[in-house]
Amino acid sequence: MAFWNRIVGWFRRGTKPAEQGRPDRAELMERRRARQAALEARAAEAQPAPPAIDSNFPTFRSSAVDRGMSRGETSRLAKARLTLRDVFTPAQPVTERSKFAGRLAVLARLIEILEDQRSHVVIYGERGIGKTSLVHILADIARESRYVVVYASCGAFSSFEDIFRAVLRDIPQLYLRDTDPTALGENPGSVADRLSDGFDARQLGELLSQVTGTRVIVILDEYDRAESDQFRQSVAELIKNLSDRAASVQLVLAGVASNLQQLIGYIPSIRRNIIGLPMPRLSSEEVRSLIRIGEKSAGVAFDEDAAKAIEALSNGSPYLVRLVSHHSSMIALDAERMRIELSDVWAALEKVVDEAASRIDPRLLSAVEPFLQPQHRAVIHAAARAASTPDGWFSPEDALSLCENCPPERMLKELNELTLAGVTERAAESEGARYRFREEPLPTYLWMRVARDSLDLDTVTPPTRSVAS
Ligand SMILES: Nc1ncnc2c1ncn2[C@@H]1O[C@H](COP(=O)(O)OP(=O)(O)O)[C@@H](O)[C@H]1O
Ligand SMILES: [Mg+2]
Repeated sequence: MAFWNRIVGWFRRGTKPAEQGRPDRAELMERRRARQAALEARAAEAQPAPPAIDSNFPTFRSSAVDRGMSRGETSRLAKARLTLRDVFTPAQPVTERSKFAGRLAVLARLIEILEDQRSHVVIYGERGIGKTSLVHILADIARESRYVVVYASCGAFSSFEDIFRAVLRDIPQLYLRDTDPTALGENPGSVADRLSDGFDARQLGELLSQVTGTRVIVILDEYDRAESDQFRQSVAELIKNLSDRAASVQLVLAGVASNLQQLIGYIPSIRRNIIGLPMPRLSSEEVRSLIRIGEKSAGVAFDEDAAKAIEALSNGSPYLVRLVSHHSSMIALDAERMRIELSDVWAALEKVVDEAASRIDPRLLSAVEPFLQPQHRAVIHAAARAASTPDGWFSPEDALSLCENCPPERMLKELNELTLAGVTERAAESEGARYRFREEPLPTYLWMRVARDSLDLDTVTPPTRSVAS
């Protein structure tokens, strides 16, 4: 209503008295009514009237369609909020170079493998380490060099035929050696049109070896999700076929694994046709450059101790850097600040812990609770950090190396107690036992919980040291 009054006030002030040919009163009233109705309709369109509810009732802060100013915030804060949502959103891979931090060495190596060694590649590493983002950026730069790049994401039930039929739909038939461009007519079609029903890896290899005049990169992401042995066997055969025929088509597989063998290992004959590229954790400089991207694009600034805390909490995972940076910056903006302080990071931690807990079986949460008591904290924290490997398995030595002043026998005892409580599983191996937390989000939950709980104890100075360093 206030908005409406402003409009009406402005409208009244802006109305010039008509000097000549003055219309009669009824006509004036009619015109005013029409104008009023038109303005009202426009105002309603621009901003639907909120229902009469408690003013504390939560609402979205900005409209999903217009990217302009939102209610109750200055436009600077609102703009920063919108930008940071894009830059730090933790749930989506990066697809734009301007939001992609670091990773230059991995990209350079990947390009070298594809361009100079003409090899097929497997990119492997843990979830959230940035594999999908890397292959999107690779696709982008390869397309700039006129490569045809096709991206496909595998699912649990992916079949060789379905995936490759979809991939081949994106490769114009024009690139096949035996295609006569003059005979293609208006619809040149795709290589998929040349596939017979129920084709196999050999036939596909044969067809793809006819690609000429360009190079093709086929990216199969989330490769670990494909459960069918037959699918993997066929992909391996395809790689072998393409290599043997020196085809201009190269495959890039990306998936969660701790080594190359885990993804393609049981097909020894293709090992020499493929190069494994592990995705490392972000270096300290890369974490800072990810944070800087947010700062530069949104005009916010992270205090040095806030950035340090994010770095310590995220353990080199771009997913966690973005998650913690996202929550802390939103908290600062809620407080109408463009500076993100250490206290915002600690408040963000609260949200991160709650979110992680919501993804874990409540029985598992209760079982692990006793191990979060102060006397066990150092051990569980070390174990949780040690478990941030691609497959989650870690040895007692891995955990010991992350725990100051922990006697080895104490570590072993606690790990076995965790196993008895059903929190971890244990695998006995010739070189000694290995352990793994029962659920994937558990390690992150635990080290974030320890950081938060240590903070509760340490009310005088927030701990920047032992939290997660
Ligand atoms: N180089 C990077 N720069 C900025 N953000 C990144 C980078 N790599 C990954 N991320 C972010 O980390 C999260 C996980 O990345 P993603 O590529 O999906 O990992 P993965 O495929 O290994 O699970 C996403 O939010 C993504 O935006
Ligand atoms: Mg991925």
